Amino acid sequence: MSYSIAIDGPAASGKSTAAKIIAKRLKFLYVDTGAMYRAVTLLMLEKGLDTKDSKQAESILEECHIREDREGRIYLNDRDVTSRVRENDVSSQVSYACAHKCVRERLVALQQEMAKSENVIMDGRDIGTVVLKDATLKVFQIASVQARAERRYLENKAKGIAVESLEQIKEDIERRDYIDSHRENSPLMKASDAIEVDTSDMTIEEEVDVIIHLFRERIGETSWNNLVQSL
Ligand code: CDP
Ligand code: CDP
Repeated sequence: MSYSIAIDGPAASGKSTAAKIIAKRLKFLYVDTGAMYRAVTLLMLEKGLDTKDSKQAESILEECHIREDREGRIYLNDRDVTSRVRENDVSSQVSYACAHKCVRERLVALQQEMAKSENVIMDGRDIGTVVLKDATLKVFQIASVQARAERRYLENKAKGIAVESLEQIKEDIERRDYIDSHRENSPLMKASDAIEVDTSDMTIEEEVDVIIHLFRERIGETSWNNLVQSL
C-alpha cells in the first residue's frame, strides 16, 4: 500500500517548501501541480493566445508535453522552464489558463498517473478534493495575506525575479486567490476531511514538523516505524 499526502491552500502559504522537505525526509515523490498549470500558461503566452479562451487553451494541449523530474524541475516539451514559469507574466495569467475544464482534465490525469505507484506528496489547489481524494493525509494551509505577500516578495528577490512592489504582489495573490476560489471547475477549497494549518507565524521547520506529526498520527506507530526503517 502506498501513502499520499495532499497539501492545498492559497498562494505562498508555504505548501511547496514544506512538501519538498517532507518528500526528501520520507523519500516520497514530490509533485508540484502549480508548476504544471504554469507551464501550460507559458505555452499559451508564447503562442500569443488568450489565456481566458478555452478553445485556444484546448488547441495547444496536443503539443504541450509536461514532465517533472524528481528534483522538482519542470519541463515543457523537453525545455527546462522551472525558473521561467515563476516570472510575473505567467503568475498573472495562470489562474485564467488553469480554470478551463480541458486543461484540468489533462493535468489531473497526469498527476494521478504519477501518484499511482509510489508514496507521494503533492501540493496545489484541488489535491484533496479531486486529484487524491483518498489521500492518507489532507492538509489545508492558510496564512495571512500580509505574511504571504512578504514571503513571496523575499522569495522573488532571492530568485532574481523582476521584483514588483509588496503592494503589487499582495494584489496579485489576492486576485489569484479570488479567481481560484470562485471558478466553476475544481475551485480552491478545503476538503471536508482536511486539517487546517495556519502557517502565518510558523517557520518552515515548524511547518514541516506539524505535517509530519499529523501524518505519523494518521498512520499509527507501527506503520510509522516500518516506514522509517525502510528509509
Ligand atoms: O506558488 P503559488 O502558490 O503562487 O502558485 P502555484 O502553486 O504555482 O499555482 C499557480 C496557480 O496554478 C494557482 O494560482 C492556481 O490558479 C493554479 N493551480 C490550480 O488551479 N490547481 C492546482 N492543483 C495547482 C495550481
Ligand atoms: O507553495 P506555496 O505557494 O504555498 O508557498 P511556498 O512557495 O512554499 O512559500 C513561499 C515562500 O515563503 C518561500 O520563499 C518560503 O521559503 C517562504 N516560507 C516561509 O517563509 N515560512 C513558511 N512557514 C513557509 C514558507
